[in-house]
Amino acid sequence: EVETKVEQLLNEMTLEEKIGQMCQVNGGYGHDESIRKGMIGSILNEVDPQNINRLQKIAVEESRLGIPIIVARDVIHGFKTVFPIPLGQAATWNPELVQKGTRVAAMEASSTGVKWTFAPMIDISRDARWGRIAESLGEDPYLTSVLGAAMVKGFQGDSLNSETSIAACAKHFAGYGAAEGGRDYNTTSIPPRELRDIYLPPFKAAVDAGARTFMSGFNEIDGIPATGNKQLLTDVLRNEWQFDGFVVSDWASTVEMIPHGFAKDAKEAAQRAIKAGVNMEMATTSYKDNIAALIEEGALEIEDINQAVRNILRVKFELGLFDNPYIAEEKQNQFAKPEYLEAAKKAATQSMVLLKNEQKTLPINTSKKVALIGPMADQAYEQLGTWIFDGDTTLSVTPLQAFNETFGQENVLFAEGMAISRTRHQKGFRKAIEQARKSDVIVFCGGEESILSGEAHSRANIDLPGVQNDLIKELKKTGKPLVLVVMAGRPLTIGEISEHADAVVYAWHPGTMGGAALADIVSGKANPSGKLPVTFPKVVGQIPIYYNHKNTGRPANPDSWTQMYDIPVKAPQTSLGNESHYIDAGFTPLYPFGYGLSYTSFEYSDLSLDKEVYAPGETIEVSFALNNVGDLAGDEVAQVYVQDLVGNVTRPVKELKAFERISLDKNEEKSVTLTIEVDDLNFTNIDMEQVVEPGEFQLWVGGDSNAKLTTNFEVQ
Ligand code: IFM
Repeated sequence: EVETKVEQLLNEMTLEEKIGQMCQVNGGYGHDESIRKGMIGSILNEVDPQNINRLQKIAVEESRLGIPIIVARDVIHGFKTVFPIPLGQAATWNPELVQKGTRVAAMEASSTGVKWTFAPMIDISRDARWGRIAESLGEDPYLTSVLGAAMVKGFQGDSLNSETSIAACAKHFAGYGAAEGGRDYNTTSIPPRELRDIYLPPFKAAVDAGARTFMSGFNEIDGIPATGNKQLLTDVLRNEWQFDGFVVSDWASTVEMIPHGFAKDAKEAAQRAIKAGVNMEMATTSYKDNIAALIEEGALEIEDINQAVRNILRVKFELGLFDNPYIAEEKQNQFAKPEYLEAAKKAATQSMVLLKNEQKTLPINTSKKVALIGPMADQAYEQLGTWIFDGDTTLSVTPLQAFNETFGQENVLFAEGMAISRTRHQKGFRKAIEQARKSDVIVFCGGEESILSGEAHSRANIDLPGVQNDLIKELKKTGKPLVLVVMAGRPLTIGEISEHADAVVYAWHPGTMGGAALADIVSGKANPSGKLPVTFPKVVGQIPIYYNHKNTGRPANPDSWTQMYDIPVKAPQTSLGNESHYIDAGFTPLYPFGYGLSYTSFEYSDLSLDKEVYAPGETIEVSFALNNVGDLAGDEVAQVYVQDLVGNVTRPVKELKAFERISLDKNEEKSVTLTIEVDDLNFTNIDMEQVVEPGEFQLWVGGDSNAKLTTNFEVQ
């Protein structure tokens, strides 16, 4: 039925009206006349429901064909109620919770008339220098696929034409996260097999989850800008994956093909983008200015335009925009309901990763005196993270507010120590040290402000900025136990400074309820359960460092590497220099992918598979016992990794294939069965075919990517 409506409408449209549908303009003012003439298909960055209704009225009631506009916004990790940055949400390893987060975001955003978000961002990133790693779901294709699909479902709801559904946008197609050196917008060189096996799977999962739009990336891959990449946008996305939603460019990524050296002018850029499969142009006007001439000259065919417009109209019909173009007054601006804040708190709580906890420094008994120090301890805005255009800072619960509540104001001795994370002087140290001396325990809440990550905010040095390390060392000299809390948009290189901390909590940018979640974790009301969605390097020079790497012909091994500067060496001399490691940083990360501690301990045992030999199409049942051996209830994220031992191309040392967050009471043991589809063991072989190769596989189960409990199976 939708297809009939699309075709009928398309038949009535002039070329100018068709071009209009392919144009997205910025902001809600100054476009009335163009909308009236049918020359605009979409607006981004308007969130005032009254103005959206006004513009929609012009489109629907005053333009010749009454085609509604679609209003878009970057609703990335919440709207007014801000959830943890996506990288933090990924640390929950909890698809239901992640889906709930985007459902809440959609309910808030749709109440303004926004019907389309530019999320989820499912670029794989193996580089913590890249500022946009904050927006990603980490380094792993499987985790990103599962959580990205959950985000799509949350945004789009059960039915696309429901009032609270907004169209999702899988971005940035593709490879943007592989920016060389972690420098945003930089060139990427992704070998075709790696593109297939690492970077594309989350996008395929987004199509399967029903994502209705895609955004093409700013980057080039191996010489071809993503926005002019027919192979990706048409051959893979349309033909192979059968995607029938629409593709929008990134902001100006069409005309940026000029500096890329891929188009001589805006006209050629428009031609290349349209031919490749970009249906709508964001912000710039190369489509508006050139399509008619390109058709006239025969450089584009009318069918190229029809196809783009069909895709756009289809999504507008599916969203119910033709039937319900307006947001009713009584439904406008529905924000920050108690259950939204509760969900944001749960997400923040489950996102925080306990990296270290010596002598049970945490949790801190609420009768203790706590010195709360640091530049992120009371920053209502900064704790929200990047891309929070609409975030309401008045809703923010900061650590200071929450600690006052939890420990009692008289027990919280606050000093920021440094005004901002980048502060380079020590003027605030004295007061901070005084507070620390009066306390039983120090909680240093540092990291980096939201502005230090996000788009165009890559860093070459990812240590704690400013004089934070100096302050932490001074605080530690008081002899008091010290808890380091890091709020950041990326993994920071905290290896050396962590040695001065008794406990470390990685809190990411935790969003609106971040302080409340942190107080629960620090006081033991909540038991930490986050796990790293990305490998933490010891030093920046180890980047790229990721768990699912190849083995090399001279793999490093834990017993045979040394640190040149740690003379006398502790390793057998025979192997020095002959293996793949750094002589000054080894090869192991600071913390592996999947890592995270709890206040209790978990033991894995009794691993078994339902069979020894499997055939394609079958399901592998992985069973094991999970035992909470501590005396506190807690959640554990059980993870299953697989290695294809020999392939006709080399295969990663291990790959995450299944996981589940499991709640256990104290001393409880559970029998757990997780499943893996044999077909999901596929990879791109020497002939570029996606195959599951017969042979031997090794499988591990455990609480991180260094899992030790192991068994083997065969695929025939
Ligand atoms: O959605 C974003 C994209 O991720 C980066 N450039 C701008 C777009 C719209 O704001």
